[in-house]
Amino acid sequence: MRMHINPASPFARKVRIVAREAGLAPRPEEIETAVSPVAPNADLAGANPLMKIPALTLDDGSTLYDSRVIAEYLDALGGARLFPSSGAQRWAALRLQALCDGILDAAVLTRYECAVRPQPLRWDDWIAGQRRKIDGALAAMAREHGAWGDQFGIGQIAAACALGYLDFRFPDIDWRAAHPGLKTWFARVSERSSMCDTMPPA
Ligand code: BEZ
Repeated sequence: MRMHINPASPFARKVRIVAREAGLAPRPEEIETAVSPVAPNADLAGANPLMKIPALTLDDGSTLYDSRVIAEYLDALGGARLFPSSGAQRWAALRLQALCDGILDAAVLTRYECAVRPQPLRWDDWIAGQRRKIDGALAAMAREHGAWGDQFGIGQIAAACALGYLDFRFPDIDWRAAHPGLKTWFARVSERSSMCDTMPPA
């Protein structure tokens, strides 16, 4: 298996963590891939016509995307321990993943708006709207993280990727001051080898 990833992408980080937490051996070969909202990448388009990472190419040549599908596929290969199989626990885990992926959608779009889009075309109200989504989702995460205990399933993996990406690209968002419980939780899970192995580049 080959997986298109970018070390800076939080969605790629999620599936890279899943591959490690699921104990896959061997893990998918990681193909470092450049992505841009404005420059096409023909190699990536062969694996995912949306030209988004991560994209997983299986040994039979078929491909899987997006990160949610890949994460569940890799977990199934590893014995299905990171996604609850059914019932209320499954819906809670998938909803938490959706919440945290939503933080990432807003944060990555904002990153593109601020780092790629030409300054005269930037839209401050739109950026503020994305920030409100991030703040609201962080508050929701903070309200519920007390029930997570020692779990590190797909919901918590997505949460760790969201907080890690905010640290990486938005150090001005002081989520630790607003949510000290999340600060403690993130410090603890950041020690896992899956998290250390997949730290975004400095
Ligand atoms: C980033 O550099 O922040 C980034 C790279 C790839 C995908 C998403 C974000």
